[in-house]
Amino acid sequence: MQTANSSSIVDLEKVGVQYEGGVQALENISLQVYQRDIVGIIGPNGAGKSTLLSVVLGLVKPTTGEARLFGKPISSDGLRRVGYVPQKAQPRDINFPSTVYETVLMGRVPKAGLFHRLGKQDHQKVKEVLEQLELFDLKDRRIGLLSGGQSQRVFLAKALVSDPELLLLDEPTSGVDAHSRKEFYDVLGRLNQESGVTLILSSHDIGIVTTLAKRVVCINRTLFFCGDTSEFTSSSILAKTYDYPIEVVRHHDHA
Ligand SMILES: Nc1ncnc2c1ncn2[C@@H]1O[C@H](COP(=O)(O)OP(=O)(O)OP(=O)(O)O)[C@@H](O)[C@H]1O
Ligand SMILES: [Mg+2]
Repeated sequence: MQTANSSSIVDLEKVGVQYEGGVQALENISLQVYQRDIVGIIGPNGAGKSTLLSVVLGLVKPTTGEARLFGKPISSDGLRRVGYVPQKAQPRDINFPSTVYETVLMGRVPKAGLFHRLGKQDHQKVKEVLEQLELFDLKDRRIGLLSGGQSQRVFLAKALVSDPELLLLDEPTSGVDAHSRKEFYDVLGRLNQESGVTLILSSHDIGIVTTLAKRVVCINRTLFFCGDTSEFTSSSILAKTYDYPIEVVRHHDHA
Protein backbone atom coordinates (compact mmCIF):
# COMPACT_ATOMS: atom_id res chain seq x y z
CA MET A 1 0.00 0.00 0.00
CA GLN A 2 1.52 3.33 -1.02
CA THR A 3 1.41 6.19 1.43
CA ALA A 4 1.13 9.91 0.68
CA ASN A 5 4.51 11.32 -0.27
CA SER A 6 6.05 13.87 -2.57
CA SER A 7 5.84 11.55 -5.59
CA SER A 8 2.06 11.63 -5.61
CA ILE A 9 0.74 13.71 -8.49
CA VAL A 10 -2.58 14.33 -6.82
CA ASP A 11 -3.01 14.24 -3.07
CA LEU A 12 -6.39 14.89 -1.51
CA GLU A 13 -6.48 14.94 2.29
CA LYS A 14 -9.93 14.74 3.87
CA VAL A 15 -11.40 16.98 1.19
CA GLY A 16 -14.95 18.23 1.65
CA VAL A 17 -16.88 20.50 -0.71
CA GLN A 18 -20.04 22.30 0.22
CA TYR A 19 -21.51 24.43 -2.54
CA GLU A 20 -23.23 27.74 -1.93
CA GLY A 21 -26.82 26.85 -1.23
CA GLY A 22 -25.75 24.06 1.09
CA VAL A 23 -25.23 20.96 -1.10
CA GLN A 24 -22.47 18.85 0.44
CA ALA A 25 -21.01 17.41 -2.76
CA LEU A 26 -17.95 15.73 -1.22
CA GLU A 27 -17.10 14.73 2.31
CA ASN A 28 -13.84 13.50 3.82
CA ILE A 29 -12.25 12.29 0.57
CA SER A 30 -8.64 11.17 0.90
CA LEU A 31 -6.98 9.97 -2.25
CA GLN A 32 -3.53 9.80 -3.82
CA VAL A 33 -2.76 9.42 -7.50
CA TYR A 34 0.74 8.38 -8.52
CA GLN A 35 2.69 8.78 -11.72
CA ARG A 36 1.48 6.52 -14.58
CA ASP A 37 -1.68 5.58 -12.71
CA ILE A 38 -4.96 5.15 -14.52
CA VAL A 39 -7.66 5.94 -11.98
CA GLY A 40 -11.31 5.34 -12.82
CA ILE A 41 -13.88 7.28 -10.81
CA ILE A 42 -17.23 5.59 -10.54
CA GLY A 43 -20.41 6.84 -8.89
CA PRO A 44 -24.05 7.58 -9.71
CA ASN A 45 -25.38 10.93 -11.00
CA GLY A 46 -24.76 13.65 -8.48
CA ALA A 47 -22.13 11.57 -6.64
CA GLY A 48 -19.52 14.31 -6.86
CA LYS A 49 -17.33 13.00 -9.69
CA SER A 50 -17.19 16.27 -11.61
CA THR A 51 -16.75 18.16 -8.35
CA LEU A 52 -13.76 15.97 -7.49
CA LEU A 53 -12.16 16.71 -10.87
CA SER A 54 -12.94 20.42 -10.40
CA VAL A 55 -11.06 20.34 -7.09
CA VAL A 56 -7.99 18.87 -8.80
CA LEU A 57 -8.31 21.55 -11.52
CA GLY A 58 -8.44 24.29 -8.88
CA LEU A 59 -11.91 25.34 -10.12
CA VAL A 60 -13.59 24.46 -6.83
CA LYS A 61 -11.84 25.11 -3.53
CA PRO A 62 -12.31 22.49 -0.82
CA THR A 63 -14.32 23.85 2.10
CA THR A 64 -12.46 21.42 4.35
CA GLY A 65 -9.23 19.48 3.93
CA GLU A 66 -6.43 20.05 1.45
CA ALA A 67 -5.74 19.36 -2.21
CA ARG A 68 -2.22 19.19 -3.65
CA LEU A 69 -1.00 18.81 -7.22
CA PHE A 70 2.54 17.65 -8.04
CA GLY A 71 3.35 17.91 -4.31
CA LYS A 72 2.32 21.58 -4.01
CA PRO A 73 -0.84 23.54 -3.32
CA ILE A 74 -2.81 23.85 -6.57
CA SER A 75 -1.52 26.76 -8.66
CA SER A 76 -1.34 27.86 -12.28
CA ASP A 77 2.20 26.41 -12.45
CA GLY A 78 0.94 22.94 -11.60
CA LEU A 79 -2.11 23.31 -13.81
CA ARG A 80 0.06 23.97 -16.87
CA ARG A 81 1.05 20.30 -16.60
CA VAL A 82 -2.57 19.14 -16.63
CA GLY A 83 -4.94 18.47 -19.54
CA TYR A 84 -8.70 18.31 -19.19
CA VAL A 85 -11.46 16.85 -21.33
CA PRO A 86 -14.72 18.17 -19.85
CA GLN A 87 -18.05 16.39 -19.54
CA LYS A 88 -20.25 17.17 -22.58
CA ALA A 89 -17.37 18.68 -24.51
CA GLN A 90 -19.36 18.63 -27.75
CA PRO A 91 -20.72 22.03 -28.67
CA ARG A 92 -24.47 21.74 -29.20
CA ASP A 93 -24.61 24.60 -31.65
CA ILE A 94 -24.03 23.23 -35.13
CA ASN A 95 -23.14 26.73 -36.27
CA PHE A 96 -20.17 26.84 -33.87
CA PRO A 97 -17.71 28.54 -36.19
CA SER A 98 -14.30 27.01 -35.30
CA THR A 99 -12.72 24.28 -37.36
CA VAL A 100 -11.15 21.17 -35.87
CA TYR A 101 -7.69 22.62 -36.50
CA GLU A 102 -8.47 25.95 -34.82
CA THR A 103 -10.04 24.22 -31.83
CA VAL A 104 -7.05 21.95 -31.27
CA LEU A 105 -4.61 24.83 -31.78
CA MET A 106 -6.31 26.70 -28.92
CA GLY A 107 -5.04 23.91 -26.67
CA ARG A 108 -1.51 25.32 -27.17
CA VAL A 109 -2.40 28.72 -25.72
CA PRO A 110 -1.77 27.78 -22.04
CA LYS A 111 1.64 26.43 -23.03
CA ALA A 112 2.63 29.44 -25.14
CA GLY A 113 1.12 31.99 -22.76
CA LEU A 114 -1.91 34.10 -23.52
CA PHE A 115 0.02 37.02 -24.99
CA HIS A 116 2.45 35.06 -27.13
CA ARG A 117 1.89 34.37 -30.79
CA LEU A 118 1.57 30.74 -31.67
CA GLY A 119 4.48 29.69 -33.88
CA LYS A 120 5.76 26.92 -36.10
CA GLN A 121 6.35 24.56 -33.18
CA ASP A 122 2.75 24.94 -32.07
CA HIS A 123 1.41 24.14 -35.53
CA GLN A 124 3.78 21.17 -35.78
CA LYS A 125 2.49 19.78 -32.48
CA VAL A 126 -1.12 20.19 -33.59
CA LYS A 127 -0.41 18.29 -36.82
CA GLU A 128 1.30 15.48 -34.90
CA VAL A 129 -1.58 15.03 -32.49
CA LEU A 130 -4.20 15.25 -35.25
CA GLU A 131 -2.39 12.45 -37.05
CA GLN A 132 -1.99 10.41 -33.86
CA LEU A 133 -5.73 10.56 -33.22
CA GLU A 134 -6.60 10.04 -36.90
CA LEU A 135 -8.19 13.45 -37.14
CA PHE A 136 -5.99 15.01 -39.78
CA ASP A 137 -8.50 14.42 -42.59
CA LEU A 138 -11.13 16.25 -40.55
CA LYS A 139 -8.96 19.27 -39.79
CA ASP A 140 -10.94 21.76 -41.88
CA ARG A 141 -14.37 20.55 -40.76
CA ARG A 142 -16.49 22.78 -38.55
CA ILE A 143 -16.46 21.37 -35.06
CA GLY A 144 -20.23 21.72 -34.63
CA LEU A 145 -20.86 19.33 -37.52
CA LEU A 146 -18.85 16.40 -36.17
CA SER A 147 -20.31 13.24 -34.67
CA GLY A 148 -20.14 12.74 -30.91
CA GLY A 149 -17.19 10.32 -31.14
CA GLN A 150 -15.26 12.57 -33.53
CA SER A 151 -15.74 15.64 -31.39
CA GLN A 152 -14.64 13.77 -28.25
CA ARG A 153 -11.40 12.93 -30.07
CA VAL A 154 -11.01 16.60 -31.03
CA PHE A 155 -11.30 17.65 -27.38
CA LEU A 156 -8.84 14.94 -26.40
CA ALA A 157 -6.48 16.31 -29.08
CA LYS A 158 -6.95 19.82 -27.71
CA ALA A 159 -5.94 18.58 -24.25
CA LEU A 160 -2.99 16.61 -25.61
CA VAL A 161 -1.26 19.36 -27.60
CA SER A 162 -0.06 20.90 -24.35
CA ASP A 163 1.87 17.67 -23.54
CA PRO A 164 0.11 17.11 -20.22
CA GLU A 165 1.64 14.85 -17.59
CA LEU A 166 -1.78 14.39 -16.04
CA LEU A 167 -4.97 14.12 -18.05
CA LEU A 168 -8.41 14.43 -16.46
CA LEU A 169 -11.42 13.19 -18.41
CA ASP A 170 -14.97 13.66 -17.19
CA GLU A 171 -17.25 11.05 -18.74
CA PRO A 172 -15.42 11.39 -22.03
CA THR A 173 -17.50 8.89 -23.96
CA SER A 174 -21.06 9.53 -22.88
CA GLY A 175 -23.23 9.46 -25.99
CA VAL A 176 -20.51 7.74 -28.03
CA ASP A 177 -21.21 4.37 -29.66
CA ALA A 178 -19.50 1.18 -28.46
CA HIS A 179 -17.01 1.01 -31.33
CA SER A 180 -15.82 4.62 -31.03
CA ARG A 181 -15.76 4.24 -27.26
CA LYS A 182 -13.41 1.27 -27.48
CA GLU A 183 -11.15 3.15 -29.91
CA PHE A 184 -11.11 6.15 -27.58
CA TYR A 185 -10.11 4.02 -24.59
CA ASP A 186 -7.46 2.25 -26.69
CA VAL A 187 -5.92 5.66 -27.42
CA LEU A 188 -5.92 6.47 -23.70
CA GLY A 189 -4.31 3.13 -22.86
CA ARG A 190 -1.54 3.79 -25.39
CA LEU A 191 -0.99 7.32 -24.08
CA ASN A 192 -0.46 5.91 -20.62
CA GLN A 193 1.75 3.07 -21.75
CA GLU A 194 3.84 4.81 -24.39
CA SER A 195 3.99 8.40 -23.14
CA GLY A 196 3.57 7.77 -19.40
CA VAL A 197 0.59 10.13 -19.10
CA THR A 198 -1.25 9.73 -15.79
CA LEU A 199 -5.01 9.46 -16.31
CA ILE A 200 -7.97 10.16 -14.07
CA LEU A 201 -11.32 9.55 -15.71
CA SER A 202 -14.87 9.41 -14.51
CA SER A 203 -17.39 7.22 -16.25
CA HIS A 204 -20.70 5.48 -15.83
CA ASP A 205 -19.39 2.64 -17.95
CA ILE A 206 -18.15 0.44 -15.14
CA GLY A 207 -17.08 -2.33 -17.49
CA ILE A 208 -14.78 -0.14 -19.55
CA VAL A 209 -13.43 1.69 -16.49
CA THR A 210 -12.48 -1.56 -14.84
CA THR A 211 -10.88 -2.77 -18.07
CA LEU A 212 -8.77 0.35 -18.59
CA ALA A 213 -8.14 1.58 -15.04
CA LYS A 214 -5.37 0.28 -12.81
CA ARG A 215 -7.16 1.66 -9.77
CA VAL A 216 -10.82 2.30 -9.11
CA VAL A 217 -12.34 4.96 -6.89
CA CYS A 218 -16.03 4.69 -5.97
CA ILE A 219 -17.65 7.78 -4.57
CA ASN A 220 -21.10 8.85 -3.61
CA ARG A 221 -20.35 12.04 -1.64
CA THR A 222 -18.02 9.99 0.55
CA LEU A 223 -15.41 7.50 -0.63
CA PHE A 224 -16.73 3.94 -0.75
CA PHE A 225 -13.77 2.19 -2.31
CA CYS A 226 -10.28 3.03 -3.45
CA GLY A 227 -7.97 0.25 -4.53
CA ASP A 228 -6.55 -1.83 -7.33
CA THR A 229 -8.97 -2.76 -10.08
CA SER A 230 -8.29 -6.44 -9.36
CA GLU A 231 -9.70 -5.95 -5.85
CA PHE A 232 -12.72 -4.29 -7.31
CA THR A 233 -14.69 -7.40 -8.07
CA SER A 234 -17.09 -7.41 -5.18
CA SER A 235 -20.50 -6.34 -6.42
CA SER A 236 -21.37 -5.35 -2.86
CA ILE A 237 -19.07 -2.29 -3.23
CA LEU A 238 -20.96 -1.24 -6.31
CA ALA A 239 -24.33 -1.86 -4.72
CA LYS A 240 -23.26 0.24 -1.72
CA THR A 241 -22.05 3.09 -3.93
CA TYR A 242 -25.15 3.14 -6.08
CA ASP A 243 -27.62 2.18 -3.37
CA TYR A 244 -29.02 -0.58 -5.59
CA PRO A 245 -27.65 -3.80 -7.12
CA ILE A 246 -25.56 -3.26 -10.25
CA GLU A 247 -24.44 -5.81 -12.76
CA VAL A 248 -20.96 -5.35 -14.14
CA VAL A 249 -20.67 -6.05 -17.85
CA ARG A 250 -17.08 -6.88 -18.70
CA HIS A 251 -15.71 -5.73 -22.04
CA HIS A 252 -13.59 -8.76 -22.82
CA ASP A 253 -12.57 -7.53 -26.24
CA HIS A 254 -10.75 -4.52 -24.81
CA ALA A 255 -7.00 -5.13 -24.89
N1 LIG B 1 -21.88 24.77 -9.05
C1 LIG B 1 -22.69 24.07 -8.23
N2 LIG B 1 -23.44 24.72 -7.30
C2 LIG B 1 -24.25 24.04 -6.47
N3 LIG B 1 -24.38 22.69 -6.46
C3 LIG B 1 -23.66 22.00 -7.36
C4 LIG B 1 -22.79 22.65 -8.30
N4 LIG B 1 -22.21 21.72 -9.08
C5 LIG B 1 -22.70 20.53 -8.64
N5 LIG B 1 -23.57 20.69 -7.61
C6 LIG B 1 -24.24 19.63 -6.86
O1 LIG B 1 -23.25 18.83 -6.25
C7 LIG B 1 -23.57 17.44 -6.32
C8 LIG B 1 -22.46 16.72 -7.06
O2 LIG B 1 -22.48 17.12 -8.42
P1 LIG B 1 -21.43 16.61 -9.51
O3 LIG B 1 -21.68 17.35 -10.76
O4 LIG B 1 -20.06 16.68 -8.93
O5 LIG B 1 -21.86 15.05 -9.65
P2 LIG B 1 -21.42 13.99 -10.74
O6 LIG B 1 -21.04 12.73 -9.99
O7 LIG B 1 -20.42 14.54 -11.67
O8 LIG B 1 -22.80 13.70 -11.50
P3 LIG B 1 -23.07 13.25 -13.04
O9 LIG B 1 -22.82 11.76 -13.10
O10 LIG B 1 -24.52 13.55 -13.22
O11 LIG B 1 -22.19 14.05 -13.93
C9 LIG B 1 -24.93 17.37 -7.00
O12 LIG B 1 -25.91 17.28 -5.99
C10 LIG B 1 -25.03 18.69 -7.76
O13 LIG B 1 -26.36 19.09 -7.87
MG1 LIG C 1 -20.39 14.89 -13.70
